[in-house]
This record gives sequence, C-alpha cells and structure tokens, in this order.
Amino acid sequence: MHSAQSGMKSTDGLRVGVAGIGYWGSKHVRTMRSLDSVSQVVVIDPSEERVAKLRHSFPEVHGYPDLEAALPAIDALVVATPPTTHAPLACAAMEAGKHVLVEKPFATGVQDAHRMVGMSRERDVVLMVGHTFEYHSAVWALREMVARGELGDLYYLDTSRLNLGLYQHDVNVLFDLAPHDISILNYVLGSTPVSVECWGSRHAHRRLEDIAYLRVCYDEPHVEANVHVSWLDPCKVRRMTVVGSSKMVVFDDLEGEERIRVHNKGVSQPDESADLTMPPMSYRYGEVVAPYLVVNEPLLVEDEHFVDCVLTGMSPLTDGANGLAVVEVLEAAQLSMKERREVFLEEVRRNLQNGFDRLPGKHALVGQEAV
Ligand SMILES: NC(=O)c1ccc[n+]([C@@H]2O[C@H](COP(=O)([O-])OP(=O)(O)OC[C@H]3O[C@@H](n4cnc5c(N)ncnc54)[C@H](O)[C@@H]3O)[C@@H](O)[C@H]2O)c1
Repeated sequence: MHSAQSGMKSTDGLRVGVAGIGYWGSKHVRTMRSLDSVSQVVVIDPSEERVAKLRHSFPEVHGYPDLEAALPAIDALVVATPPTTHAPLACAAMEAGKHVLVEKPFATGVQDAHRMVGMSRERDVVLMVGHTFEYHSAVWALREMVARGELGDLYYLDTSRLNLGLYQHDVNVLFDLAPHDISILNYVLGSTPVSVECWGSRHAHRRLEDIAYLRVCYDEPHVEANVHVSWLDPCKVRRMTVVGSSKMVVFDDLEGEERIRVHNKGVSQPDESADLTMPPMSYRYGEVVAPYLVVNEPLLVEDEHFVDCVLTGMSPLTDGANGLAVVEVLEAAQLSMKERREVFLEEVRRNLQNGFDRLPGKHALVGQEAV
C-alpha cells in the first residue's frame, strides 16, 4: 500500500489516470504526459468519441469507459469530470488506495468535501484540489505584496470573472466560477472568510443562476471582497483589484505581458479632524509599475506538484482542507442566495455537525428550484 507519509515507493514512475477528457481534462493529459516522473497516462471517459479523438493525437494512451475498469492500471487519478461526479469518483479511487487530484469545485457540498478529506486520511493517500490560480506566478506576487504590507492598510478587494458562457449543466455559475476567486482570496489574504452574502439570478438558464455577486468578509485581516461571476456578459473579464491605503494593484489575467500593475495612487484627507463635509480630499497620482513575473503554466506547476507530493509524501499546497474551505464558502453563498441574508461560515459548520441538510439540490443539481 502506498503511504502518503513516506511517499510512493515506485521507482518506475507514476501511472496517472485522467477521468473526464473534455475541455480541461485533455489539458491534464497533455501536462501529465510531459512529466518525467509519470510513466503512463490513461484516460477514463464514457464518451467513445472523445477517447478515440484523444488517442488519435496520443496513440500510446489507453482508454477506459469507467473508473472501475481503469483502477488496476493507475496509481493516481485526476478527476476532471462534471462537478456532481467529483466526490463519488474521488472516493471510489481513494477507497482503492489511489492518490487523487480533484478539479474545482472540489465538491458540490460540505458533506461530500468532509467525506473526501476523511477518506484521504483513513486510506493515507494524497488528496489535492485543482485550485490552479494558487500555482499562478501573478497570484504569488499578489500574496507577497499583501504579506509585506506594501499596499498599506487593505481597504477592499474586487474580482470579476465574466464571459458569455460557458454554461454548465450540473452547477450554477457560483459553483463553476467563484471557486477560482475564493481560492485566490484565501491564498492572497492567508485567511478564510467568516461570512458571505450572495445575490444571484437566472436569465438564459431556467434552473441555474447565470450571474452572481458575493460579498465575502474576512476577520483577519479585517477586509471585505466583492466577487462578480457571470456566464452572461458580453465581455470576457478576468480581473482582481486590491485597494490599499498606499497602493492599488490590478491583476488582469487577460493581459499577456503585464498581468500585474501596481498603481502608486491613493486618496487621503489632509487632516483627520477636518470637517468631512468640506473638501478637499487629496489625491496622489504616482507611477504604475508592472513587476517581472516568472513565466509558468499554472496547470503544469500544479500537476508537477501533485506528482511530487505522491512520490515524496509531501502535503499539497492545495490539500483537501483547502478544497473544503472553499466549498464551505460556496455552500454559505448558496444558502445566502436562497434566504437573502448574510450567512456565517460557523452556521454551515454547525449545520453539518447537526446533520442538518437544508440546502436545495446538493446531491443533484446545484441551483435554485425551477420556476
Ligand atoms: N482549474 C481550472 O482552471 C478549470 C478550468 C476548466 C474546467 N475546470 C473543471 O474541470 C472539470 C471538467 O470541466 P470541462 O469543462 O472539461 O467539462 P467537459 O464537459 O468539457 O468534460 C467533462 C468530461 O467528463 C466526462 N465524464 C462525465 N462523467 C464521467 C465519469 N463518471 N467518468 C469519467 N468521465 C466522465 C464527459 O464525457 C466529458 O468528456 C469541471 O469540474 C470544471 O469545473 C477547471
């Protein structure tokens, strides 16, 4: 049996299965194949057409229609299937002693997320979540700036992840896109939120929300973040703004060369005791700096890290607890959206302890009831 504590003993390299070879899973196949410590990649997908197409490009890759058939041929599994299948596939693989990397969203409810974390401990296997942005050099730079206090007191953070599509069929836009922003926020702030408010609505989709706005509140550091996610926007936007008392930073993932821009701008009152009804506020306009960032492919860094963790016994940067923390926020946001109120994360944890399963659609489709 493999031991996550001591690392895998295999000297022949790791045999990795990729479950789900759609848009994202096929990228995992490419990156896993490029790693020296991976001896073999196999794919698991019920779509014969997709398997045949992938094998056309990579003839040496074996295909299986389901996980059970592939288990004897793998040591580790990447789960890149639709979100509601993440927990059952991950648990079946861990039950069989396989190490697992699960795509975002880690799970579609905290109960499943807890079960996965518990099983990884019980079976002593590596469990990692594919929070790709935590392997992005721009996000590392943001975290360092915040940790060094370079921005001054943090005023607020704002994120937008918008586009026309891609509509998913088993989760709403909150569970599809917000995991990225919540994982970035948690990582950059080195913290997890205490409460969340969420407003979302359905437009082009009858059952699943296609736009959502979240207000995510952190205690330490004491700061709020606004998150806007949408499948129904004319413009593709992938932007995060961090505003502090000294500087402001914009991370625009669509900017090829200068993904991070640090604006030496700010606003202050000349005198704290001044009459606030009177001008002036004083505005500071300084230089804009685009720091050098290491050029990397976050997915490649992530997959390499997963393989290293399996082979060395190291704990992943984005481990099961990291995945669970984000799912807790998503579940709180889903409840907030339904009941139109602020939801504290404590409530989600308490509900779980009490076995109180109050959210709609947790084990089926994640969205509001159809109208
Ligand atoms: N980390 C990221 O940046 C990122 C980016 C895109 C997508 N994703 C995530 O990757 C996952 C897949 O997304 P996608 O856009 O590639 O979806 P997709 O619809 O393009 O592909 C899903 C594939 O899974 C297969 N599948 C369904 N059930 C299966 C099962 N039980 N076993 C094996 N295969 C099964 C389908 O046949 C399909 O080929 C989702 O969880 C998504 O949120 C992550």
